[in-house]
Amino acid sequence: MILVTGGAGFIGSNFVLDWLAGGGEPVVNVDKLTYAGNPANLASLSGDARYRFAQADIGDQAAMEAILAEHRPRAIVHFAAESHVDRSIHGPGEFVQTNVVGTFRLLEAARGHWLALPAAEKEAFRFLHVSTDEVYGSLSETDPAFSETTAYAPNSPYSASKAGSDHLVRAYHHTYGLPTVTTNCSNNYGPYQFPEKLIPLMIANALEGKPLPVYGDGRQVRDWLYVGDHCEAIRMVLARGRTGEVYNVGGNAEKRNLEVVHALCDTLQEMRPREGGYRGLVTYVADRPGHDRRYAIDARKIRAELGWAPRETFESGIARTVRWYLDNAAWVAQVRSGEYRHWIEKNYEKRA
Ligand code: NAD
Ligand code: TYD
Repeated sequence: MILVTGGAGFIGSNFVLDWLAGGGEPVVNVDKLTYAGNPANLASLSGDARYRFAQADIGDQAAMEAILAEHRPRAIVHFAAESHVDRSIHGPGEFVQTNVVGTFRLLEAARGHWLALPAAEKEAFRFLHVSTDEVYGSLSETDPAFSETTAYAPNSPYSASKAGSDHLVRAYHHTYGLPTVTTNCSNNYGPYQFPEKLIPLMIANALEGKPLPVYGDGRQVRDWLYVGDHCEAIRMVLARGRTGEVYNVGGNAEKRNLEVVHALCDTLQEMRPREGGYRGLVTYVADRPGHDRRYAIDARKIRAELGWAPRETFESGIARTVRWYLDNAAWVAQVRSGEYRHWIEKNYEKRA
């Protein structure tokens, strides 16, 4: 079996669902269930004997060791993290704790597990670390895209803590020989994304006729990748990636934030027309401190070595995503109750 951390979050739950739908071997999902972890994302697996859940913190090394001893996975796919830049600005401590210290504890537990494996299993074992393009910092409009050899220059507590985890993973390969692989991916979107992130936040606000809060001038650029394409890249790297290597993953879809918001408004207008349209809801609000201007990914390595390329275009991915949010209003309502309200007050009240 394989062990997934953070499988109740956005990308992790998409990964587990796709993995099992594709006939993959059993999965044990280790998740602390923070505000971002939602067992409802995996409700369709209830009763599926191939799926096991363990509620635990990756920073609890003894718990990780016990789970590894019980399940003896042949691979660990590590998604668990604090993942939202704006939250890292309000409270960086949790980011250091989970992303840096938690990854360290998990690596220690994984190293012990790996060392005790028989030779053939030891050789085949993989620790796949899921990371972000944000570790490379910010590009100008004319800079070349991030490659695997771009120097790290993280600018937010989130990206700095992910960079720290990437360095630890690298060191565990270099020093101890742990068979690691790392992926650095651009901005994902798709089903089950928590509506604190740009795309689901804008969809949810638009459907309620609320303002669409664009930070600063809205001209910041991100590369966008449909989550299913990211999950396929991770499967390919797990199966055939070279140990000790890093693979950049991107959608070849650089967009300004305002372009993304307009695309969402126009797609919503087609699927759920509103009198006067949605674009008029766009509201400029105070910028994010230290806001990175542009991210772009050079994904030539994973394409050349593993034959991966995204299946969705930005347009097809956005259409699928908007359709999913329209069809899953109950999921959105559930995750927007409780803690979510406090976050919205904290992040947006002083921005207006
Ligand atoms: P998410 O915030 O939606 O989910 C994170 C999951 O990790 C949640 O289920 C949460 O409960 C769990 N978790 C948090 N702290 C934990 C801990 N201490 N122990 C165990 N579980 C814990 O995040 P996501 O968007 O799905 O991102 C998953 C991974 O992919 C992260 O490592 C992130 O850095 C990386 N990534 C995300 C994006 C993106 O656009 N979302 C892009 C590139 C890379
Ligand atoms: P986000 O989804 O938080 O991802 P990241 O910061 O990791 O790239 O934000 C994507 C972009 O959208 C980023 O440039 C910040 C911007 N943004 C807004 O303009 N308004 C918002 O309310 C949010 C959440 C993000």
